[in-house]
Amino acid sequence: MNARTRDHVDGLKASGQAVRAAFDAMVKATKAGMTTAELDAIGAQVLAEYGAKSAPQLYYEFPGATCISVNEEAAHGIPGNRTVCDGDMINIDVSANLDGYVADMGQSFVVGAGNAEQLRLCAAVQQAVRDAIAKVRSGRSLNVIGKAVQQVADREGYTIVQNLGSHGVGRNIHEEPSYVPFDNPQETRTLDRGMVLTIEPFFTTGAAWVNEQDDGWTLTVPQGQMVAQYEHTLIVTDNGAIVVTE
Ligand code: CO
Ligand code: CO
Repeated sequence: MNARTRDHVDGLKASGQAVRAAFDAMVKATKAGMTTAELDAIGAQVLAEYGAKSAPQLYYEFPGATCISVNEEAAHGIPGNRTVCDGDMINIDVSANLDGYVADMGQSFVVGAGNAEQLRLCAAVQQAVRDAIAKVRSGRSLNVIGKAVQQVADREGYTIVQNLGSHGVGRNIHEEPSYVPFDNPQETRTLDRGMVLTIEPFFTTGAAWVNEQDDGWTLTVPQGQMVAQYEHTLIVTDNGAIVVTE
């Protein structure tokens, strides 16, 4: 969507606050021995308290309120009876529609202490998003995002997943501009004032693609690979980005 008015900005901020609250409650509750369904129920409860509707349910009939992906699962993991263990890397992705405004956020983190390689991967993908957000300004090429993300991936030795990436959002969960993944010198689109989009790279320890599993949802990297994502929703302005999911 194009957020042109104060109402648009306030609506997106309110939606961002709802998904942030659900996400934070889920992260805080995460501990070894819980099932992903139990975690999802916590997120669902918070969204309901805000009067927000789960976007994956609303737009895609996803079988869960939130996406919870464990270890080799990159995205769109279905909450269920899988138990999370200390040392698991999990990704929680929450998106919701509140009063007609959609915000989307996600983050990978480790249950328990984690090992150095897991923490380094999570830190790198977060740094990539922070660097990309800092480049956002109306009038610039959309490629400033992919370029910033690519720089961090290259420097840290990680691979960017090519078939997942940032997307427009705001009125629907997936809008134009679709698919803003990595450095693409051929990119012709620009960041327009009021444009609403996510920045959400996926970094892996080698895999450039994720594959859909037989359940029709879960996207995974090959066994033995690690994957991490970090995602915020933001509004493009003349002075930078307004991040609505912080
Ligand atoms: Co997204
Ligand atoms: Co998301």
